[in-house]
Amino acid sequence: MSEVQTVPETPGPTETDHTGQATDISTEGADAVRSAADTTAAHREHLFPWVRPYYAEPLVLAEAEGVRVRDVEGVEYLDLFAGILTTSIGHCHPAVQSAVTAQMAKLGHTSTLYVTEPQVEAAVALAGIAPGDLSVSCFTNSGTEAVESAIAAARLYTGRHEIVALRLGYSGRSMLTSHMTAHGGWRLPLGGVTGVVHARSPYPFRSPVGEEQTTDFFIDDLVEVIETTTGGKPAAFFAETIQGVGGYIVPPRDYFQRAAEVIRGFGGLMIIDEVQAGFGRTGGKWFGIEHWGVEPDIICMAKGIANGFPVGATITRPEIAEAWQGPSISTFGGNPVSMAAVNATLGVMKAEDVPVRARERGEQLRTGLERLRDRFPWIGEVRGMGLMQGVELVEDRAGKAPDADRAGRLTEAAKEEGLLVGRGGLYGHVMRIGPSLLVTADEIDEGLSRFTAACERVDG
Ligand SMILES: Cc1ncc(COP(=O)(O)O)c(C=O)c1O
Repeated sequence: MSEVQTVPETPGPTETDHTGQATDISTEGADAVRSAADTTAAHREHLFPWVRPYYAEPLVLAEAEGVRVRDVEGVEYLDLFAGILTTSIGHCHPAVQSAVTAQMAKLGHTSTLYVTEPQVEAAVALAGIAPGDLSVSCFTNSGTEAVESAIAAARLYTGRHEIVALRLGYSGRSMLTSHMTAHGGWRLPLGGVTGVVHARSPYPFRSPVGEEQTTDFFIDDLVEVIETTTGGKPAAFFAETIQGVGGYIVPPRDYFQRAAEVIRGFGGLMIIDEVQAGFGRTGGKWFGIEHWGVEPDIICMAKGIANGFPVGATITRPEIAEAWQGPSISTFGGNPVSMAAVNATLGVMKAEDVPVRARERGEQLRTGLERLRDRFPWIGEVRGMGLMQGVELVEDRAGKAPDADRAGRLTEAAKEEGLLVGRGGLYGHVMRIGPSLLVTADEIDEGLSRFTAACERVDG
């Protein structure tokens, strides 16, 4: 990372803070920050170190539209990562802008102590697209809270405590969800959380057995983990449909059906995390799990649900929701402006039929990435569904040693080519692409040609 520079050069006006000390207030406004370097330096000085941006020279973004973002110096980038798969219908979509502006002018905040039309409209809309009998929702402010709510609901309904999650899963940054997360680098070493065990991630590319035995191998492991590391009465099995941070790991075709049989055999619920894979992203269906023909008991949602507004949602069957009578409130959960963003986003998604668009553009993207795999021997696998496509980098295809170093260089090279993509995988060795679901065929072609140029830069 580049060295931190100090700001500001000129002392500004002062006032007295609560400790009685004089404090410089001239840096508080954006006007006082003169350059990207100054802004980055101020970021480093005044934000916790965990608020860590990508890139040796972080991007200071100023504006965006559709799949284009511009930095403060006016340099434009094609954004195929969408703020971690979140600007699902493109940056600053006009329908979302006008819905939130109108709602803010009318009623900006209530808390969950009052009923509002936008929150009810959003809950009804989710019930309309969710699989099976999932029809009762609660809204929160993030994916982390959506997962927390799902676990609370499962524990209250079953009267049980233990959760069986998957290795390589990412669930959030609270105490519980960071313990459910199974990447050493993303877990907070804080202790104090009990009752979470982890089965093997159903990761076909790194399966130690042949394709024929892959599902059996991972299901046997799931059973063994329950039998050996729980008291045999788990509250729930918890999994992302496609492990996002894990590197877009797609489980084998019959994995979830068999996992559902296993957890239900032990009397537990099935919770599916669609924070990344939901809302049409996997192509052809609204939720990723529908590809496996399984009806989960609870689904967690966030990210793309509101095109960038901070919304988490947890949906379940009525009898499971009934078990959670409270006490609980959420000050910002179901906020009318955030709900207006959900309703506008879902309205556009339906009008544009994003599941179909994601399937078509996903096929185009996948074909282009497969060509790169044929060309560069350090691409071990291209995988994913719809507009959630990953490229796993290896030192060589026989040994499959993860190549995090090249992935780091490729991330930087893509930026040099004016392209934003993400990284994932246990070692940061998987490139992740997940653009707006309204991305056009031309924009995918442009992304592929920029990504190809980036691959050429790091080849050899
Ligand atoms: C699958 C999954 N679940 C939960 C979360 C947590 O969401 P948030 O960052 O909104 O708290 C994430 C975030 O990346 C995620 O990818």
